[in-house]
Amino acid sequence: MNIKKIAVLGSGTMGSGIAQVAAQSGYEVLLIDVDQKFIDRALAGISKGFQKAVDKGKMTAEDKEQVFGRIKGSISYEDCKDVDLVIEAILENMDLKKQVYKQLDEKCPDHAILASNTSSLSITEMAAATKRSDKVVGMHFFNPAQVMKLVEVIPGLDTSEETIAAITEVAKKMNKVPVNAKESPGFIVNRILVPMINEAVIALGEGIGTIEEIDTAMKLGAGMPMGPLALADMVGIDIVLAVAEVFYKEFADSKYRPALLLKQMVRAGHLGVKTGRGFYSYQ
Ligand code: CAA
Repeated sequence: MNIKKIAVLGSGTMGSGIAQVAAQSGYEVLLIDVDQKFIDRALAGISKGFQKAVDKGKMTAEDKEQVFGRIKGSISYEDCKDVDLVIEAILENMDLKKQVYKQLDEKCPDHAILASNTSSLSITEMAAATKRSDKVVGMHFFNPAQVMKLVEVIPGLDTSEETIAAITEVAKKMNKVPVNAKESPGFIVNRILVPMINEAVIALGEGIGTIEEIDTAMKLGAGMPMGPLALADMVGIDIVLAVAEVFYKEFADSKYRPALLLKQMVRAGHLGVKTGRGFYSYQ
């Protein structure tokens, strides 16, 4: 399958990162969100990212114009009529996702693949909202999408081999390393990473170490590029909690119980870098 035009749905941290990577890899990109102000903010961020690359001598100013010119914004699914692939990176809410997949199924051409960047939700359930469950697949990028090399490729129950092959090819063209994962909550990385971050929050709550001590220990003792609490701030504490809650519900096992402090942080609105406060302050 020859994929040329990609719609990225959701212009938040992950959506704009994915749009940037897709444009850099030669794809025409349509960045869709519900409000023009979100699109404008994302495009400004992407442009800034490209400018940094120009300033570092990693990209010419002409290349920047050309690559940035491949990204168009839209607030309408009607514009999906000529896309070959949709990468959905909207809120982690299954009811919302099902509504969105139903609409995408109606607006996208028959051959288009619908891929979800979900962190932990069921691809099979999203696919069931469409009449093309063979063309619905998980394509999970990692934050920051511009830098992290992995893409998990996750089939739902009815996903075809052709769809998996096409997504694997797109991931490689984006200079990522695709790894296949079975459909199971959190797939591979989050299944292992999120309980570890949750444990770090429990350790903090028990006073085993301070925020800085826990992060320093995990960086220097376990070779992590950033400590688990700084990582939670970067990913979003609400996202970490949402994944932890999916595990607790789906596995029905107390070992996945989300830390109380994680819930308190979300209730207080301290969601990490994006709100200016998480375990650390970003003011
Ligand atoms: N967006 C775009 N580019 C970024 C970036 C961002 N947010 N953060 C860093 N970069 C780029 C920098 O511009 C720099 O690029 P160049 O090499 O071209 O100059 C490069 O990344 C290295 O950055 P720095 O030197 O500033 O910092 P660093 O070497 O410490 O790397 C990091 C920063 C890549 C974030 C690194 O700390 C890291 O790998 N952290 C762990 C990230 C991680 O585990 N992500 C997965 C989270 S889990 C997830 O995403 C799944 C989910 O579903 C919740």
